Amino acid sequence: MKSYYGELCTKVYESGKSLAEGRELEFYLSFVTRPDMQVLEPMCGNGRLLIPFMQRGIAIEGFDISEDMLKVCREKGRSLGLEPRVDQAKLEEFVSDKNFDLIVIPFGSFSLLPDELVDQGLRQLKKALSDQGKLLLTIMVELHQGEDLAEWTESGMTQLANESIRLYKKTRYDAEKAVLFTELKYDLVKDDRVLRTEIMEFPVRFYGIDAFKQILERNDFRQVFECS
Ligand SMILES: C[S@@+](CC[C@H](N)C(=O)[O-])C[C@H]1O[C@@H](n2cnc3c(N)ncnc32)[C@H](O)[C@@H]1O
Repeated sequence: MKSYYGELCTKVYESGKSLAEGRELEFYLSFVTRPDMQVLEPMCGNGRLLIPFMQRGIAIEGFDISEDMLKVCREKGRSLGLEPRVDQAKLEEFVSDKNFDLIVIPFGSFSLLPDELVDQGLRQLKKALSDQGKLLLTIMVELHQGEDLAEWTESGMTQLANESIRLYKKTRYDAEKAVLFTELKYDLVKDDRVLRTEIMEFPVRFYGIDAFKQILERNDFRQVFECS
């Protein structure tokens, strides 16, 4: 069955990437410079970043395209005594009646947006920012040579309580489009029997820094800074 960040993918993601911590978390927290700042995390997924922000009393809300990821975010929040404010929405269609002081998209997730939706997505985010608001986003940068895997290749195993999830992938790098096309297959396995399979297409766009700065500028982001 085809899915995008579906149930099995979400279980694998949550088992390896549940809560942000350490230097990565400190980096994003360093942009919260006032206690009353309103923060938005588009593509918030399982709340890996959103929940540590909430734990520090930061007013943050999020949205994501995947109901499975959001379900994990809400459940994880509740288990920690929090009520995450997260909704299902697409970045390219996002509208809000509220303006945010900081919009943050970690983990290279913006690179998941197909080229034809990038300008539209940035325009929607710009509308959701306050006058002095900042957009802090991460992208995947220049992949010169992608690894091509034409056949399903086993690339990991996640052990759950009574079952496991076997991950297989195929990849193809399109250098002209600078997109790494990956197909991921998640097999839910119990007693050596495959109970269920999920297949996900996962194109990731790689950008040159200068080209991405131009994309931001043409979408009216006037002061563009690069952090590394
Ligand atoms: C790599 S995960 C990152 C999740 C979380 N932000 C983190 O740092 O762990 C990428 C997330 O982007 C979401 N996503 C992908 N395309 C999207 C879109 N067009 N609109 C909203 N969410 C999207 C996926 O569902 C997934 O949860």
